[in-house]
Amino acid sequence: MSLSKVLPDEKVVVLGSHSGRNRYKDVAIRVLHGMGAAVSYVEVDNPHRIAASALPSLGAAALLVDLTHSHDPVIRQLGRDGLRTLVAVETPEILLRMLPQESDKARVQHAQNCIRAAKTMRVTSPAGTDFEVALGELSGNCQYGFSDEPGHWDQCPGAFVVTHSNDHSAQGTVVIDAGDIMFPQKEYVNTPITLRLENGYIAAIEGGSDAKLMKATLDAYRNPEVFAVSHLGWGLSRNSRWDALNFFDKAEIEGQDGRGHLGNFLFSTGPNLSGGGTRRAPMHLDIPLAGCSVFLDGKPMVLDGDVVCPEQRPN
Ligand SMILES: [Fe+2]
Repeated sequence: MSLSKVLPDEKVVVLGSHSGRNRYKDVAIRVLHGMGAAVSYVEVDNPHRIAASALPSLGAAALLVDLTHSHDPVIRQLGRDGLRTLVAVETPEILLRMLPQESDKARVQHAQNCIRAAKTMRVTSPAGTDFEVALGELSGNCQYGFSDEPGHWDQCPGAFVVTHSNDHSAQGTVVIDAGDIMFPQKEYVNTPITLRLENGYIAAIEGGSDAKLMKATLDAYRNPEVFAVSHLGWGLSRNSRWDALNFFDKAEIEGQDGRGHLGNFLFSTGPNLSGGGTRRAPMHLDIPLAGCSVFLDGKPMVLDGDVVCPEQRPN
C-alpha cells in the first residue's frame, strides 16, 4: 500500500466477491485505515460482471484494491478516468517471497521503453522456437507489483512487460518444451508442442499428448480467433519460482511465479483488445516458455532465459 502511494483521506475501495475467498479483506482494510485512507469494502455478486449498483462506489475511488481479479472491462474503463487498481489474490507465501520494491518500476519501464522503440521482435530457443513479429501498431502493458499512478492497473507481486504484435505479422515456429507452463490450466507441459505460426495465427499444432490437449482446448471454442497470437513479452519478477505449481493447490494460486518469472518468454493466444486492437476471442492462453532468447530489432533483451540489460535485472 505504501508503494501504491496511498494518501491520507484518499478514497480506497476494497473489492470482494460474495462467493470468493477475499483473502486479504481484513488486513487490507486494517492497513488502509491505519494509513488514514477513506476505505470502504464493496462485495459484489459477480466480480466479472459488476452490478450497476456498485459502480458509483468504484467510480468515486482513487484506488481499487481488487481481491477478486475482476475481468470486467468496466475496471479498465474506470482506469481511463484515473482509477488505480491493484489486484491481490496470491497466497501470503508468494506475496512475501516476491514482494515488490520501488526499483522494480524503473526496471519494467526500461523494458517497456525498449519495446515501444522497436519495430520487430524475434524469439528463439534451443528447443526450436524461431519466430518473428512486427511491432508498432498496437500497445502493450506492464506490471511491477504496485499501482502508484492514475490509471495504472497492476497485480501484486509479479513483474513483466508485454506488447501486442501487428495483426497478421507473426511468422515462424514456437516450441512449447517439456517443463514449460500452460495457463489457465496451471500445468507443466510433459511432451513438446510445436506451433506453426502463419500470418499472426497458429496454423498447426504438432506433437504428442500435450499437443492433442492444446488443440482440443482451442478447437472446443469453434472460433478461429482463439488461434491468434496475443500479447508477447518477458518476465521481470524478483524471487519467482518456476517450480511453484508443484507446491500449491491450483485453486490457491493465480500463477504470478510462472507468468512473471525472470527471463521467461510469455507467449499467449487469443484477443488483442488490451493492446488497442479489435480482436475478441473467448479463450486466452498464457504460455511462459523457459530458456528463450528475445531480440528487439536484433538487440538481445533475454538470452537463453537470462535478462541481458542491467537496467532490467533485479538488484
Ligand atoms: Fe495473458
